[in-house]
Amino acid sequence: MTVVHRRFDVLVIGAGGGGLRAALQLASQEARVAVVSKVFPTRSHTVAAQGGVNAALANVTPDNWQWHLYDTVKGSDWLGDQDAIEYMCRTAAERVIELEHYGVPFSRLDDGRIYQRPFGGQSQHFGGAQAARTCAAADRTGHAILHTLYQQNIRCRTTFFDEYFALDLIQDEEGHVLGAVTLEIATGDVVVIEARATLLATGGAGQLYRTNTNARINTGDGLAMALRAGLPLQDMEFFQFHPTGIAGKGMLISEAVRGEGGYLVNGDGERFMSRYAPKAHDLASRDVVSRAIYTEVQEGRGCGTERDHVQLHISHLGEAAIAERLPGIREMCQTFLGIDPAASPIPVYPTAHYMMGGIPTSRDARVVVPAGSGEEAVPGLWAAGECACVSVHGANRLGGNSLLDIIVFGRAAADDIERWLQEAPYHRPLPEAAVARSLQRLEALEQDDDGERPAELRKAIQATMEQYCGVFRTEAKLQEGLAQVQALAQRSLKLRLSDRSRIFNIERIEALETQNLAALACATVASALARTESRGAHSRVDHPERDDAQWLRHTLYFHQPARLEYKPVKLRPLTAEPIPPVERIY
Ligand code: FUM
Repeated sequence: MTVVHRRFDVLVIGAGGGGLRAALQLASQEARVAVVSKVFPTRSHTVAAQGGVNAALANVTPDNWQWHLYDTVKGSDWLGDQDAIEYMCRTAAERVIELEHYGVPFSRLDDGRIYQRPFGGQSQHFGGAQAARTCAAADRTGHAILHTLYQQNIRCRTTFFDEYFALDLIQDEEGHVLGAVTLEIATGDVVVIEARATLLATGGAGQLYRTNTNARINTGDGLAMALRAGLPLQDMEFFQFHPTGIAGKGMLISEAVRGEGGYLVNGDGERFMSRYAPKAHDLASRDVVSRAIYTEVQEGRGCGTERDHVQLHISHLGEAAIAERLPGIREMCQTFLGIDPAASPIPVYPTAHYMMGGIPTSRDARVVVPAGSGEEAVPGLWAAGECACVSVHGANRLGGNSLLDIIVFGRAAADDIERWLQEAPYHRPLPEAAVARSLQRLEALEQDDDGERPAELRKAIQATMEQYCGVFRTEAKLQEGLAQVQALAQRSLKLRLSDRSRIFNIERIEALETQNLAALACATVASALARTESRGAHSRVDHPERDDAQWLRHTLYFHQPARLEYKPVKLRPLTAEPIPPVERIY
């Protein structure tokens, strides 16, 4: 096996919006920055974000960051850390204007300002009217942001390692992270990338579920790398199901559709959301709308011959509005359903969308671990975006806050890494043993002749997660689910490749991804089983109430040996008044 060594100041793993925002700033400050991506950067999953990015610009309705803070804390079902949420909401406007200056082609109002639309869970402060806080580039906002950030990185001479798969972090005896071992997919060569600072920005793991909105690449590789390095994962039980996936297929139909005035209807022709969310109706938060759709179908009020979905209506918006504001949705419906939503309703059903949990970080995106009665930073390691848990989303993320998270904490990571590069001007010696461990894992895949095919095992993980750890959960289901995912994780250590060639061996990559998914499935189900309450996206039928006395705390899951610890939620914002927990009604 050929092993090549490269050295940079900063290694960014993942080329979505969080990674590219950080890389751009660092490269423009003359740092030598490597970005490793397992796909061509503009195919990263940020490209699929549709509806928009939240910032209280008040371009369309009155708004301010304090309302954004309140809505996000309430949306999180009080599990979000209020200091981090204030930081995100207060800096949102500046970060969005910065994107505009980088060249993001936002949709415009007639007077030239950025177009904003209402999204779920946004304040109703104005005589019942909803704030319009979500800044949009039609329904392709992530596409616009990702391409702009990529182009700016090219301008700043960021070094891209396109189609390289990150295997493991390299850590020395004192716990410093010194880079990562990667695999060049085109050649099968191993490239060890040394760096003084490493940023994980690898996105989420929507591929844990069979029906999801995520790209095939979303296998939680950075999270699994963190687990293998002995780091914990936080709040993994909170997995968001987006209410409006294309029924039976899972692709995202943006919340922008309801933001623009679309509405949901059940098989009896009823606009049922008013029964579940008397004020916000179709624009309640996602956990509420997903449970409502699921309940309508469970109780026999679904649409279609199988009564297994509900309908999303937009034809009343008219051709012109659909063409201007929702062109991507229209095209998707034509491609995947053979219908034109300007004429026919869209069949929708909840679909796995987003992980609220992730690698625990501080507000400046440093990866943190418990130490004594508090926390300490892992030297040399940062995380941002969906793979991180800072925690601004708590138990349920509001739509439009994920693009915001990546630009705010991508920037926070870059600011902090700039400081770190001043303090740590030299590379530390590379421990060859850490590299050797990673290579052994790779070599083990070449030797198993009697294991299972990776694709089969991935399917089994997805089916198990869907059956035992979906929208509604019970102790019995989670216990059975945990036994099954633990068995699958054992089986994932012994996979059989039908193709042992080195050149573009996609089956080898799929095997590595499947091992990562298996570890994350264990983290998710174990964390869900332990939390005996219902909060945000974690809905326990056997424990239907939120239990602040016992569970107003974050879960930390450790791997090998598997164990859970807990840490307190930060209930104090930085400057605003604390927002104490109250009943959450939309
Ligand atoms: O519905 C959407 O457009 C998704 C946005 C988000 O997850 O933030």
